[in-house]
Amino acid sequence: MKLLRVLPMAKQLLAETVNPGEIAVDATAGNGNDTLFLAEHVGEQGHVYAFDIQQAALDSTAKRLGELTSRVSLILDSHENVDQYVTDEIGGAMFNLGYLPHSEDISIVTKPDSTIKALHKLLNKLKVGGVISIAVYDGHEGGSDERDALLNYVRTLHQADVQVIKYEQLNRLNNPPFLIVIEKMRAFSK
Ligand SMILES: C[S@@+](CC[C@H](N)C(=O)[O-])C[C@H]1O[C@@H](n2cnc3c(N)ncnc32)[C@H](O)[C@@H]1O
Repeated sequence: MKLLRVLPMAKQLLAETVNPGEIAVDATAGNGNDTLFLAEHVGEQGHVYAFDIQQAALDSTAKRLGELTSRVSLILDSHENVDQYVTDEIGGAMFNLGYLPHSEDISIVTKPDSTIKALHKLLNKLKVGGVISIAVYDGHEGGSDERDALLNYVRTLHQADVQVIKYEQLNRLNNPPFLIVIEKMRAFSK
């Protein structure tokens, strides 16, 4: 086994847990790398819901998807409203926090409150055995607040409900992302 870097590790874990034909969510579409990966993985019978609050991000994602756009709903709204669009069980979800790479306005970033609300709603929709990955960047303004809020939130989740793992490369320079992976172990009681 070869150790993967953080972003490939997230894809590997989703590839192993999301089945073709299922629904997956990209909570932060950005330039569409994760959306494309999920769309390819769920296949023709599956569907991906991709959220972003910037039209430029959804345009960039649509361009990357090409013909695969037909199996993706591109949603210009905050991920905290996921329950207004996704009603069925999901096979998995990905977050990639922070700002849109190559954007002119890098002050538009994910925020602790909306990230945690979205995560909470997605955990409720996640199938048992499914995984949600969160790539956390803390180098930008507000990034460390979001990191701390998120870590505090996931630490409160019951260990019988979910398994929460942190995956981090400790010897890389320039604020690399780390990964939080949450695996759902049992159905949540209502
Ligand atoms: C690091 S980028 C995502 C990169 C993306 N996964 C990719 O493959 O290119 C973070 C994205 O989250 C978006 N974002 C910020 N707040 C959001 C929110 N409340 N809901 C959905 N997307 C949000 C930003 O506009 C930005 O495009």
